[in-house]
Amino acid sequence: MNLVVVSNRVARGTANEPMTGGLAAALLPVVEKSGAIWVGSSGRVRDGAQKDPFAEIEALGAGALAMLDLPAAHYGGYYEGFANSALWPALHSRADLIRASEEDYLSYREVNAFMARALLRFRRPDTAFWIQDYHFLALGGELRQLEVTQPIGFFLHTPWPARAMIEGVPHHRELVEAMLAYDLIGFQTRDDCENFLDYLSAELGLEVDDGVVTSGHGRTRVAVFPIGIDVEKFAVQATKAASHPDVSRLRRSLNGEKLAIGVDRLDYSKGLINRISAFDRMWTLQPQLARTVSLLQIATPSRGAIEAYGNLQSELAKLVSDVNGHHGEVDWTPIRYLNKGFSQTVLAGLYRTAQVGVVTPLHDGMNLVAKEYVAAQNPADPGVLVLSKFAGAANELDTALLVNPHDIDSMARTIATALSMPLTERRMRWEAMVAKLRRGTIQQWFADFVDTLQESRTADNEPLFDAPALRPRRSANTGVRYH
Ligand code: G6P
Repeated sequence: MNLVVVSNRVARGTANEPMTGGLAAALLPVVEKSGAIWVGSSGRVRDGAQKDPFAEIEALGAGALAMLDLPAAHYGGYYEGFANSALWPALHSRADLIRASEEDYLSYREVNAFMARALLRFRRPDTAFWIQDYHFLALGGELRQLEVTQPIGFFLHTPWPARAMIEGVPHHRELVEAMLAYDLIGFQTRDDCENFLDYLSAELGLEVDDGVVTSGHGRTRVAVFPIGIDVEKFAVQATKAASHPDVSRLRRSLNGEKLAIGVDRLDYSKGLINRISAFDRMWTLQPQLARTVSLLQIATPSRGAIEAYGNLQSELAKLVSDVNGHHGEVDWTPIRYLNKGFSQTVLAGLYRTAQVGVVTPLHDGMNLVAKEYVAAQNPADPGVLVLSKFAGAANELDTALLVNPHDIDSMARTIATALSMPLTERRMRWEAMVAKLRRGTIQQWFADFVDTLQESRTADNEPLFDAPALRPRRSANTGVRYH
């Protein structure tokens, strides 16, 4: 099989460069090994009629990376517009932040159609296409219109929310109908999958039979594939990174103080305001904790041209400065706040240095930082993960200290509990988490999806087997896979 993977953002093959966002960083090592062609945006745009999409192609491991210049006239409406100002807020249950114009929607559709035309160049009789994320909901439909008959799968890295949220997106029916051109649609969690199936039956009146829905496009299998990480590689990276200059400087600067760490894109879904407020509350309620712990919060700027992101950046900077001004001392800064990205290697070392990892999104598809924090720990003296119950990762990492990110007081108490947790309990919780991560690596996720995609489509689009709906099947990740 000749696999073509498509995502808006792609990554080049180096672990030493800062990378934005979980998707590209997570896919890089597996795509590299698989020999697939990875197609995405170059981040540049191109003017003119663009009959032939321009792609810069370079080797990537056993395969290739093809980066396309997207059409200048539609890029803003597609990326900042419909994808990140309509779909992203809706998918993260922030209907109040949905901003969408008709032009943005048309640009989104244009870019999906453009990508479909560009992909024809990579099609062989034995090709399978695997489309990633909300930027390309309609790409399957566009490929079918170009008479592509090969298997096409889709995986959503974000949550799929309750029906009312999706109904807040203009043209939601058209989009979901276009999604049904995919042979296989994968979600991170069972809740996401069930929300999608609920939309199909309530809004489109479609029947879902044994995890398979039949529509005008044929049959689509809907299933859950929780994404994982390469646990062993990350653990080795974390051990090695101990001697990295950034990591040793951080350790020296702590003067025996404990460290909590948060690493996020600067995004409203990440719950950063609530997290900083929880630390503020903790130092107010338990003043004896001042000077004993500081928070290193890395918030990598993202999508800065969008108003909601600009507003968040200002609000957060002000809050951090207020908290530091209020609790700080001449020789102690409670929150070390950085607006830049770090390489995977350095991050692994920073995670291992921190006694507490705080991952408290309001809503998150999976959140790989939570998994990476666990993988980076020293088995003899592991740190404690404080994890939002609204992150997909909470399904597997259920021996983390799970918190409700809306309840600031309770988060403050939980962080204090994490800081004083005895070694035996830390080890017990960590061992249970790392065992789950080992059962569901990124390699298994990749192989599972591709195998299921191949099984899901034959020449006449009939699945090769009858799979019952939400039927538990053994899964590498959770022990249970719902099809
Ligand atoms: C999330 C999305 C990815 C996206 C990443 C970074 O993880 O699911 O599709 O690539 O954020 O966002 P950006 O807009 O900077 O690519």
